[in-house]
Amino acid sequence: MTVELKKGVYWVGAVDWGIRKFHGHELSTHRGTTYNSYLIVDEKIALVDSVWAPFEKEFLENISEIVDPAKIDIVVANHSEPDHSGALPAVIAKCPRATVVVSKNGAESIPGHYHQKWNFSVVRTGDSIDLGKNKLVFVEAPMLHWPDSMFTYLTGENILMPNDAFGQHYATAFRFNEQVNEAELYEEAQKYYANILTPFSARVIKKIDEVLALKLPVDMIAPSHGVIWRKDPLQIVRKYQEWAAQQPEKRAVILYDTMWNGTRRMAEAIGHGIAEKGVDYKLYHMAVADRNDVIAQIFRAKGIVVGSPTLNNGLLPTITPIPEVLKGLKFKNKIGAAFGSYGWSGESVRIIEDHLKVCGIPVVSEGVGAKWQPTESDLSKCRALGAAVGAAISDGN
Ligand code: FEO
Repeated sequence: MTVELKKGVYWVGAVDWGIRKFHGHELSTHRGTTYNSYLIVDEKIALVDSVWAPFEKEFLENISEIVDPAKIDIVVANHSEPDHSGALPAVIAKCPRATVVVSKNGAESIPGHYHQKWNFSVVRTGDSIDLGKNKLVFVEAPMLHWPDSMFTYLTGENILMPNDAFGQHYATAFRFNEQVNEAELYEEAQKYYANILTPFSARVIKKIDEVLALKLPVDMIAPSHGVIWRKDPLQIVRKYQEWAAQQPEKRAVILYDTMWNGTRRMAEAIGHGIAEKGVDYKLYHMAVADRNDVIAQIFRAKGIVVGSPTLNNGLLPTITPIPEVLKGLKFKNKIGAAFGSYGWSGESVRIIEDHLKVCGIPVVSEGVGAKWQPTESDLSKCRALGAAVGAAISDGN
Protein backbone atom coordinates (compact mmCIF):
# COMPACT_ATOMS: atom_id res chain seq x y z
CA MET A 1 0.00 0.00 0.00
CA THR A 2 1.29 3.48 -0.83
CA VAL A 3 0.14 6.91 0.33
CA GLU A 4 0.57 10.14 -1.66
CA LEU A 5 1.84 12.78 0.77
CA LYS A 6 1.87 15.60 -1.75
CA LYS A 7 1.71 15.74 -5.53
CA GLY A 8 4.35 13.28 -6.76
CA VAL A 9 5.65 12.39 -3.28
CA TYR A 10 4.73 8.96 -1.95
CA TRP A 11 5.18 6.92 1.21
CA VAL A 12 6.30 3.50 -0.01
CA GLY A 13 7.47 1.98 3.28
CA ALA A 14 6.29 -0.89 5.46
CA VAL A 15 4.23 -1.17 8.65
CA ASP A 16 5.58 -3.79 11.05
CA TRP A 17 2.70 -4.52 13.41
CA GLY A 18 4.35 -7.56 14.96
CA ILE A 19 7.80 -6.46 16.11
CA ARG A 20 8.17 -6.35 19.89
CA LYS A 21 11.96 -6.14 20.23
CA PHE A 22 14.15 -3.82 18.20
CA HIS A 23 17.95 -3.46 17.86
CA GLY A 24 18.07 -7.22 18.40
CA HIS A 25 16.49 -7.43 21.84
CA GLU A 26 17.70 -4.08 23.16
CA LEU A 27 14.55 -1.96 22.75
CA SER A 28 10.92 -2.90 23.39
CA THR A 29 8.38 -1.87 20.74
CA HIS A 30 4.98 -2.66 22.27
CA ARG A 31 3.11 -0.92 19.46
CA GLY A 32 5.22 -2.22 16.55
CA THR A 33 6.93 0.21 14.20
CA THR A 34 7.09 1.41 10.61
CA TYR A 35 10.00 1.70 8.19
CA ASN A 36 9.27 4.82 6.16
CA SER A 37 10.62 5.30 2.67
CA TYR A 38 9.69 8.17 0.37
CA LEU A 39 9.50 8.12 -3.43
CA ILE A 40 9.67 11.44 -5.26
CA VAL A 41 8.58 11.48 -8.88
CA ASP A 42 9.90 14.57 -10.64
CA GLU A 43 11.86 14.83 -13.91
CA LYS A 44 14.27 12.61 -11.99
CA ILE A 45 13.01 9.94 -9.64
CA ALA A 46 14.43 9.78 -6.14
CA LEU A 47 13.97 7.32 -3.31
CA VAL A 48 14.76 8.46 0.24
CA ASP A 49 15.72 5.56 2.54
CA SER A 50 14.52 1.97 2.32
CA VAL A 51 13.09 -0.58 4.76
CA TRP A 52 14.31 -3.49 6.85
CA ALA A 53 15.24 -6.44 4.61
CA PRO A 54 12.38 -8.78 5.71
CA PHE A 55 9.98 -6.23 4.15
CA GLU A 56 11.84 -5.77 0.86
CA LYS A 57 9.30 -7.71 -1.22
CA GLU A 58 6.34 -5.51 -0.27
CA PHE A 59 8.62 -2.46 -0.49
CA LEU A 60 9.46 -3.23 -4.13
CA GLU A 61 5.77 -3.88 -4.81
CA ASN A 62 4.93 -0.48 -3.31
CA ILE A 63 7.49 1.28 -5.51
CA SER A 64 6.21 -0.64 -8.53
CA GLU A 65 2.68 0.66 -7.90
CA ILE A 66 4.06 4.14 -8.71
CA VAL A 67 7.01 3.62 -11.06
CA ASP A 68 9.19 0.88 -12.47
CA PRO A 69 12.04 0.63 -9.89
CA ALA A 70 14.48 0.47 -12.82
CA LYS A 71 13.67 4.16 -13.44
CA ILE A 72 14.95 5.35 -10.05
CA ASP A 73 17.81 7.82 -10.62
CA ILE A 74 18.76 8.66 -7.06
CA VAL A 75 18.68 6.64 -3.84
CA VAL A 76 19.34 8.67 -0.71
CA ALA A 77 20.64 6.63 2.24
CA ASN A 78 20.29 9.02 5.17
CA HIS A 79 21.54 6.42 7.66
CA SER A 80 23.06 2.95 7.42
CA GLU A 81 21.29 1.15 10.27
CA PRO A 82 19.66 -1.92 8.65
CA ASP A 83 16.08 -0.92 9.48
CA HIS A 84 16.53 1.77 6.79
CA SER A 85 19.24 0.37 4.57
CA GLY A 86 18.35 -3.33 4.65
CA ALA A 87 16.45 -3.30 1.37
CA LEU A 88 19.08 -1.24 -0.50
CA PRO A 89 20.68 -4.30 -2.13
CA ALA A 90 17.29 -5.43 -3.45
CA VAL A 91 16.26 -2.02 -4.76
CA ILE A 92 19.65 -1.10 -6.25
CA ALA A 93 19.72 -4.45 -8.03
CA LYS A 94 16.70 -3.10 -9.94
CA CYS A 95 18.32 0.27 -10.74
CA PRO A 96 22.08 -0.46 -10.75
CA ARG A 97 23.01 2.83 -12.40
CA ALA A 98 21.26 4.93 -9.75
CA THR A 99 23.37 7.32 -7.71
CA VAL A 100 23.46 6.34 -4.03
CA VAL A 101 23.66 9.55 -2.01
CA VAL A 102 25.35 9.30 1.37
CA SER A 103 26.92 11.56 3.98
CA LYS A 104 30.68 11.54 4.43
CA ASN A 105 30.34 9.04 7.26
CA GLY A 106 27.75 7.08 5.29
CA ALA A 107 30.43 6.56 2.63
CA GLU A 108 32.10 4.31 5.19
CA SER A 109 29.12 2.76 6.97
CA ILE A 110 26.93 1.83 3.98
CA PRO A 111 29.73 -0.08 2.19
CA GLY A 112 30.68 -1.43 5.61
CA HIS A 113 27.29 -3.12 5.84
CA TYR A 114 26.81 -4.26 2.24
CA HIS A 115 30.27 -4.48 0.62
CA GLN A 116 28.86 -3.44 -2.76
CA LYS A 117 30.45 -1.19 -5.36
CA TRP A 118 27.47 1.08 -5.89
CA ASN A 119 27.63 4.44 -7.62
CA PHE A 120 28.12 6.53 -4.46
CA SER A 121 27.91 10.30 -4.26
CA VAL A 122 28.97 11.98 -1.01
CA VAL A 123 27.11 15.13 0.05
CA ARG A 124 27.81 17.71 2.74
CA THR A 125 25.50 20.14 4.50
CA GLY A 126 24.05 22.60 2.00
CA ASP A 127 24.64 20.41 -1.06
CA SER A 128 21.62 19.87 -3.26
CA ILE A 129 20.47 17.72 -6.17
CA ASP A 130 18.16 19.15 -8.80
CA LEU A 131 15.29 16.79 -9.57
CA GLY A 132 13.66 19.07 -12.19
CA LYS A 133 10.84 20.97 -10.53
CA ASN A 134 12.23 20.64 -7.00
CA LYS A 135 15.52 19.95 -5.28
CA LEU A 136 16.81 17.70 -2.55
CA VAL A 137 18.90 19.61 0.00
CA PHE A 138 21.05 17.78 2.54
CA VAL A 139 21.95 18.56 6.15
CA GLU A 140 24.43 16.31 7.95
CA ALA A 141 23.28 15.37 11.44
CA PRO A 142 26.12 13.33 12.94
CA MET A 143 25.23 11.46 16.13
CA LEU A 144 21.50 11.99 15.68
CA HIS A 145 21.90 9.22 16.29
CA TRP A 146 24.78 7.60 14.32
CA PRO A 147 27.84 9.33 12.82
CA ASP A 148 26.34 8.90 9.33
CA SER A 149 22.89 10.35 10.08
CA MET A 150 21.65 12.95 7.62
CA PHE A 151 18.46 14.94 6.97
CA THR A 152 17.05 15.41 3.46
CA TYR A 153 14.75 18.32 2.59
CA LEU A 154 12.55 18.52 -0.50
CA THR A 155 12.09 22.08 -1.76
CA GLY A 156 8.79 23.10 -3.33
CA GLU A 157 6.81 20.54 -1.35
CA ASN A 158 8.62 21.62 1.86
CA ILE A 159 9.09 18.16 3.33
CA LEU A 160 11.86 17.50 5.84
CA MET A 161 12.93 13.83 5.96
CA PRO A 162 15.13 13.63 9.08
CA ASN A 163 15.41 9.84 9.25
CA ASP A 164 15.35 8.64 12.88
CA ALA A 165 14.97 12.11 14.44
CA PHE A 166 11.37 12.92 15.42
CA GLY A 167 10.36 9.26 14.89
CA GLN A 168 8.34 6.85 16.99
CA HIS A 169 8.06 3.08 17.11
CA TYR A 170 4.35 3.14 16.42
CA ALA A 171 2.51 0.97 13.88
CA THR A 172 -0.73 2.63 12.77
CA ALA A 173 -3.43 2.32 10.15
CA PHE A 174 -2.84 5.90 8.99
CA ARG A 175 0.29 7.84 8.09
CA PHE A 176 -0.31 11.33 9.53
CA ASN A 177 -0.14 12.63 13.09
CA GLU A 178 -3.63 14.11 13.12
CA GLN A 179 -5.08 10.69 12.23
CA VAL A 180 -3.79 8.80 15.28
CA ASN A 181 -4.26 8.83 19.05
CA GLU A 182 -2.25 11.79 20.33
CA ALA A 183 -1.51 10.34 23.78
CA GLU A 184 -0.14 7.10 22.28
CA LEU A 185 1.86 9.08 19.72
CA TYR A 186 3.57 11.24 22.34
CA GLU A 187 4.14 8.29 24.67
CA GLU A 188 6.03 6.53 21.88
CA ALA A 189 7.86 9.67 20.71
CA GLN A 190 9.08 10.34 24.26
CA LYS A 191 10.11 6.72 24.86
CA TYR A 192 12.07 6.88 21.59
CA TYR A 193 13.79 10.12 22.62
CA ALA A 194 14.54 8.90 26.15
CA ASN A 195 16.03 5.57 25.10
CA ILE A 196 17.82 6.59 21.90
CA LEU A 197 18.51 10.31 21.72
CA THR A 198 19.05 11.52 25.29
CA PRO A 199 22.89 11.22 25.19
CA PHE A 200 22.93 13.50 22.17
CA SER A 201 20.68 16.20 23.62
CA ALA A 202 23.26 18.99 23.23
CA ARG A 203 23.57 18.10 19.55
CA VAL A 204 19.77 17.99 19.21
CA ILE A 205 19.52 21.59 20.45
CA LYS A 206 22.34 22.73 18.15
CA LYS A 207 20.96 20.95 15.08
CA ILE A 208 17.45 22.30 15.61
CA ASP A 209 18.86 25.84 15.94
CA GLU A 210 20.89 25.31 12.77
CA VAL A 211 17.91 24.02 10.76
CA LEU A 212 15.51 26.69 12.08
CA ALA A 213 18.05 29.39 11.14
CA LEU A 214 17.75 28.27 7.51
CA LYS A 215 14.12 29.51 7.68
CA LEU A 216 12.97 26.73 5.37
CA PRO A 217 9.22 26.40 5.03
CA VAL A 218 8.16 23.07 6.55
CA ASP A 219 4.82 21.58 5.53
CA MET A 220 5.67 18.09 6.81
CA ILE A 221 8.29 16.37 8.90
CA ALA A 222 8.52 12.83 7.59
CA PRO A 223 10.72 10.68 9.83
CA SER A 224 11.77 7.13 9.10
CA HIS A 225 9.63 5.57 11.86
CA GLY A 226 6.02 6.14 12.83
CA VAL A 227 3.68 8.85 11.65
CA ILE A 228 4.41 11.91 9.54
CA TRP A 229 4.00 15.24 11.31
CA ARG A 230 1.61 17.12 9.01
CA LYS A 231 -0.69 19.00 11.40
CA ASP A 232 1.47 21.69 13.05
CA PRO A 233 4.65 19.82 12.02
CA LEU A 234 6.92 21.96 14.20
CA GLN A 235 5.15 20.73 17.36
CA ILE A 236 7.59 17.82 17.54
CA VAL A 237 10.54 20.18 17.06
CA ARG A 238 9.34 22.26 20.02
CA LYS A 239 8.87 19.06 22.03
CA TYR A 240 12.43 17.94 21.18
CA GLN A 241 13.74 21.34 22.33
CA GLU A 242 11.91 20.78 25.63
CA TRP A 243 13.14 17.19 26.01
CA ALA A 244 16.71 18.06 25.05
CA ALA A 245 16.78 20.74 27.77
CA GLN A 246 16.36 17.88 30.31
CA GLN A 247 14.33 19.79 32.88
CA PRO A 248 12.53 16.83 34.47
CA GLU A 249 9.07 16.86 36.00
CA LYS A 250 8.54 16.99 39.76
CA ARG A 251 7.95 13.28 40.08
CA ALA A 252 9.92 10.17 41.07
CA VAL A 253 10.60 6.62 39.99
CA ILE A 254 11.32 3.85 42.49
CA LEU A 255 12.77 0.69 41.03
CA TYR A 256 13.80 -2.42 42.88
CA ASP A 257 14.06 -6.16 42.85
CA THR A 258 13.34 -8.42 45.79
CA MET A 259 13.84 -12.04 46.86
CA TRP A 260 11.52 -12.46 49.87
CA ASN A 261 9.64 -9.11 49.73
CA GLY A 262 11.80 -7.25 52.25
CA THR A 263 13.11 -4.81 49.65
CA ARG A 264 9.60 -4.56 48.14
CA ARG A 265 8.17 -3.45 51.49
CA MET A 266 10.97 -0.90 51.78
CA ALA A 267 10.19 0.39 48.26
CA GLU A 268 6.53 0.86 49.15
CA ALA A 269 7.38 2.69 52.37
CA ILE A 270 9.68 5.03 50.41
CA GLY A 271 6.79 5.65 48.02
CA HIS A 272 4.54 6.63 50.92
CA GLY A 273 7.18 9.10 52.09
CA ILE A 274 7.46 10.64 48.62
CA ALA A 275 3.68 10.97 48.31
CA GLU A 276 3.50 12.61 51.76
CA LYS A 277 5.32 15.53 50.15
CA GLY A 278 2.72 15.74 47.41
CA VAL A 279 5.03 14.23 44.77
CA ASP A 280 3.75 11.62 42.33
CA TYR A 281 5.81 8.50 41.73
CA LYS A 282 5.85 5.22 39.86
CA LEU A 283 7.18 2.02 41.39
CA TYR A 284 8.66 -0.82 39.32
CA HIS A 285 9.65 -4.37 40.21
CA MET A 286 12.47 -4.79 37.69
CA ALA A 287 12.15 -8.59 37.54
CA VAL A 288 8.83 -8.08 35.72
CA ALA A 289 9.04 -4.52 34.36
CA ASP A 290 10.09 -3.50 30.85
CA ARG A 291 13.46 -1.73 31.10
CA ASN A 292 12.79 0.68 28.22
CA ASP A 293 9.43 1.73 29.67
CA VAL A 294 11.13 2.36 33.01
CA ILE A 295 13.88 4.39 31.29
CA ALA A 296 11.16 6.56 29.70
CA GLN A 297 9.70 7.20 33.15
CA ILE A 298 13.14 7.94 34.61
CA PHE A 299 13.68 10.43 31.76
CA ARG A 300 10.53 12.30 32.85
CA ALA A 301 11.28 12.25 36.57
CA LYS A 302 13.48 14.42 38.78
CA GLY A 303 14.01 11.66 41.36
CA ILE A 304 15.19 8.06 41.00
CA VAL A 305 15.34 5.69 43.96
CA VAL A 306 17.00 2.32 43.40
CA GLY A 307 16.76 -0.73 45.66
CA SER A 308 18.28 -4.19 45.71
CA PRO A 309 18.96 -6.84 48.28
CA THR A 310 22.60 -7.82 48.61
CA LEU A 311 23.41 -11.00 46.70
CA ASN A 312 26.96 -12.40 46.61
CA ASN A 313 28.33 -9.03 47.81
CA GLY A 314 26.56 -7.24 44.96
CA LEU A 315 23.16 -6.43 43.42
CA LEU A 316 20.45 -8.66 42.03
CA PRO A 317 21.14 -9.23 38.32
CA THR A 318 17.94 -7.46 37.24
CA ILE A 319 19.25 -4.24 38.84
CA THR A 320 22.87 -4.45 37.64
CA PRO A 321 22.15 -3.24 34.05
CA ILE A 322 20.31 -0.12 35.22
CA PRO A 323 23.39 1.90 36.27
CA GLU A 324 25.11 0.86 33.06
CA VAL A 325 22.21 2.16 30.98
CA LEU A 326 21.92 5.34 33.05
CA LYS A 327 25.63 6.04 32.62
CA GLY A 328 25.33 5.75 28.85
CA LEU A 329 22.19 7.86 28.58
CA LYS A 330 23.81 10.72 30.57
CA PHE A 331 20.59 11.95 32.15
CA LYS A 332 20.88 15.43 33.63
CA ASN A 333 19.29 17.28 36.55
CA LYS A 334 18.29 14.21 38.55
CA ILE A 335 18.57 13.35 42.23
CA GLY A 336 18.81 9.84 43.64
CA ALA A 337 18.75 7.55 46.67
CA ALA A 338 19.34 3.86 47.46
CA PHE A 339 17.92 1.15 49.68
CA GLY A 340 17.91 -2.61 50.15
CA SER A 341 17.64 -5.49 52.58
CA TYR A 342 20.44 -7.93 53.38
CA GLY A 343 21.24 -10.99 55.47
CA TRP A 344 24.92 -10.67 56.28
CA SER A 345 27.40 -8.58 54.23
CA GLY A 346 24.97 -5.83 53.08
CA GLU A 347 26.92 -3.96 50.36
CA SER A 348 24.02 -3.19 48.00
CA VAL A 349 23.12 0.30 49.25
CA ARG A 350 26.69 1.57 49.01
CA ILE A 351 27.15 -0.02 45.57
CA ILE A 352 23.98 1.66 44.26
CA GLU A 353 25.01 5.02 45.72
CA ASP A 354 28.43 4.72 44.07
CA HIS A 355 26.75 3.91 40.75
CA LEU A 356 24.41 6.90 41.03
CA LYS A 357 27.36 9.22 41.65
CA VAL A 358 29.19 7.82 38.60
CA CYS A 359 26.02 8.52 36.57
CA GLY A 360 26.09 12.17 37.71
CA ILE A 361 23.05 11.68 39.94
CA PRO A 362 23.69 13.17 43.41
CA VAL A 363 22.43 11.19 46.38
CA VAL A 364 20.06 13.41 48.38
CA SER A 365 19.96 11.43 51.60
CA GLU A 366 21.88 8.51 53.07
CA GLY A 367 20.44 5.20 51.89
CA VAL A 368 18.60 2.73 54.09
CA GLY A 369 19.68 -0.89 54.60
CA ALA A 370 17.56 -3.39 56.56
CA LYS A 371 18.90 -6.64 57.98
CA TRP A 372 16.63 -9.62 57.20
CA GLN A 373 13.01 -8.44 56.98
CA PRO A 374 12.63 -4.70 57.69
CA THR A 375 11.39 -3.78 61.17
CA GLU A 376 8.88 -0.99 61.80
CA SER A 377 11.89 1.17 62.62
CA ASP A 378 13.48 0.31 59.25
CA LEU A 379 10.24 1.11 57.43
CA SER A 380 10.06 4.46 59.26
CA LYS A 381 13.56 5.20 57.99
CA CYS A 382 12.36 4.31 54.48
CA ARG A 383 9.40 6.69 54.79
CA ALA A 384 11.81 9.37 56.00
CA LEU A 385 14.08 8.68 53.01
CA GLY A 386 11.07 8.97 50.70
CA ALA A 387 10.05 12.23 52.39
CA ALA A 388 13.59 13.60 51.89
CA VAL A 389 13.48 12.66 48.22
CA GLY A 390 9.97 14.14 47.90
CA ALA A 391 11.02 17.37 49.59
CA ALA A 392 14.11 17.70 47.41
CA ILE A 393 11.89 17.25 44.35
CA SER A 394 9.11 19.60 45.40
CA ASP A 395 11.47 22.29 46.73
CA GLY A 396 14.01 22.03 43.92
CA ASN A 397 14.11 24.19 40.83
FE1 FEO B 1 15.84 3.55 12.78
FE2 FEO B 1 19.03 4.27 13.66
O1 FEO B 1 17.67 3.31 12.81
